[in-house]
Amino acid sequence: MSAGREMRDAGCGTRDAGCGVGGDDDRVRIFDTTLRDGEQAPGCTMTLEEKLAVARQLARLRVDVIEAGYPAASDGDWTAVHQIAREVGGADGPTICGLARATERDIERCWTAVEPANSARIHIFLATSDIHMKHKLGMTRSQVVAAAAAAVSHARSLGAQVEFSAEDAARTDTEFLYEVLGVALECGAATLNVPDTVGYSTPDEYGALVAGVRANVPGIERATVSAHCHDDLGLAVANTLAAVRAGARQAECTINGIGERAGNAALEEIVMALHTRRQFFGVHTNIETLELGRASRLVSECIGVDVPPNKAIVGANAFAHEAGIHQDGVLKHRLTYEIMNAEMVGWDGVGLVLGKHSGRHALRAKTRALGYELSEEELALVFARFKELADRKKNLDERDIHALMTERSVEDRFSAIELESS
Ligand code: KIV
Ligand code: ZN
Repeated sequence: MSAGREMRDAGCGTRDAGCGVGGDDDRVRIFDTTLRDGEQAPGCTMTLEEKLAVARQLARLRVDVIEAGYPAASDGDWTAVHQIAREVGGADGPTICGLARATERDIERCWTAVEPANSARIHIFLATSDIHMKHKLGMTRSQVVAAAAAAVSHARSLGAQVEFSAEDAARTDTEFLYEVLGVALECGAATLNVPDTVGYSTPDEYGALVAGVRANVPGIERATVSAHCHDDLGLAVANTLAAVRAGARQAECTINGIGERAGNAALEEIVMALHTRRQFFGVHTNIETLELGRASRLVSECIGVDVPPNKAIVGANAFAHEAGIHQDGVLKHRLTYEIMNAEMVGWDGVGLVLGKHSGRHALRAKTRALGYELSEEELALVFARFKELADRKKNLDERDIHALMTERSVEDRFSAIELESS
């Protein structure tokens, strides 16, 4: 073990990657699990090359932690995590994390995979709800406490930064949850995750759960409390934001919200909610929002699953306006119907979709953007043809607008312009 490694073991990595000790308390760390919880969802598997491409993009996005996979699951998973740790986990890169059950084999396999990263984390999970302990693990409460202590201590002895997850925390008896998290903290876990594994919680409940953890686990100020929410009731992002309000300073999420069943909390939605409503939340992230659109498209291409057009932040219609009244308003002042700046998430230009609901102002803006300067009479003429076409065709693209310009009176106008400029 290198001297550098030994220095890191005092808590966490050389960068502030959510160890909870010192650091900036107004910052929410973004823990991306697209390559682990996301990739394990049906139809979301990726090749090694695809995983590397996504990891590089996540680094450009400046996420704090990349959960790169579950190394003990297969040799392929181990290799992917290892390659990502070597290639993306450099000095200025994100923390690279691998998932492990609370067993020596999983933990050791995980460590060998993440170890090359400058900041390397082992994420140990162990179920704590009665239903999971009885039916899945066949373990008593005291056995679970002992296994958590042994696992965290073992991972720390290897030199890893440790995150501990009480799986199914949202359905766990709260006194027992405090006990298990307290033991994990005592044994050296720097991040304590409180997953809503089955997406059962509501924002008020989940916020109260996180507040309870922060109030009742002795020594909790030394750790970062983390939120991990699933979207079975469509509440993953709302629950995560409620957790942030209650003091969670790490949010676990995936690009496009991919993940088990209905998915995980969507990274782009959490980040833009925290940014757009920063006065309300009073926190910030380190995310380079300009890279959000690219990250979304890359993940969508890799897994071969389209992003729904109405998906918040990254859907094709997220910043598009078709209704005439909206288009008119946006052209006069964007803030009339836009709460975010589309360019901030990597979009270019005003998203005006021309269709049968569009008005004259939108047509004027679009034709201008395509290089046509029309008089009022010409615009009226083109607008009439446009409405006719829009009744027959759903969305008009640029080729349609060019085609509308080929009619006589308009054509004359362009020849005049051409003559003037030649
Ligand atoms: O949903 C969950 O509980 C998990 C854990 C492994 C953190 O994904
Ligand atoms: Zn999960």
